Amino acid sequence: MSEPPPRIELHPLTRSDQDEFCSLVQASAGLHRPWMQLPATAREFRAWMRRFDDGTNLGFLVRVRETGAAAGMVNINSIIRGRYQGASLGYAAFTPSAGRGYMTEGLVATLRYAFNDLRLHRLEANIQSANEASLALVRRLGFHYEGLSPGYLYIDGAWRDHERWAITAPAPWTPDPSLPEI
Ligand SMILES: CC(C)(COP(=O)(O)OP(=O)(O)OC[C@H]1O[C@@H](n2cnc3c(N)ncnc32)[C@H](O)[C@@H]1OP(=O)(O)O)[C@@H](O)C(=O)NCCC(=O)NCCS
Repeated sequence: MSEPPPRIELHPLTRSDQDEFCSLVQASAGLHRPWMQLPATAREFRAWMRRFDDGTNLGFLVRVRETGAAAGMVNINSIIRGRYQGASLGYAAFTPSAGRGYMTEGLVATLRYAFNDLRLHRLEANIQSANEASLALVRRLGFHYEGLSPGYLYIDGAWRDHERWAITAPAPWTPDPSLPEI
């Protein structure tokens, strides 16, 4: 039986998303704190968008097909080619659309894009042990727990331990040309 079509689609984040993005981040402060800090003002947004300039990081909005509403955001961060061919994910739901399965579908679409189009081989999600919603999300997606990285990311004013969760591309995988042959 074929799967129902996704209710969401990924849209590359652009500078014209600024006002919508900032007001959704402001409305989501209670959901995001203390796990995620996103730009909430025009100035922060403009500075933050510079991270996407050189292609090392890619940013997307998860939009609900039917309404166009932004249900959340996903970043494919720190893309490394060569023998690694991997990246790490950052993601957050926006409060008005949270808890309805949109982020699960958004991450499924992100994995498909990363493995099929970008031809990445590995994606990581680094998550604090108390962040139950995020742990549930990556478990649902088939990520595997690899271990605890002490003081791994600077979040909410301190270096926090993070659980390292990862998933690799399903076979058959077509390598990116930047993968060395031997
Ligand atoms: C982690 C986070 C992105 C999850 O977002 P979310 O909106 O809750 O994600 P989803 O809606 O896809 O999944 C949540 C629940 O909705 C359920 N759900 C509700 N309606 C659904 C539907 N129609 N279809 C599918 N699932 C549905 C899912 O089963 C899931 O339930 P469960 O986890 O209680 O079993 C969100 O909690 C968040 O933004 N947290 C703060 C930022 C953060 O921590 N980022 C990650 C840092 S590592």
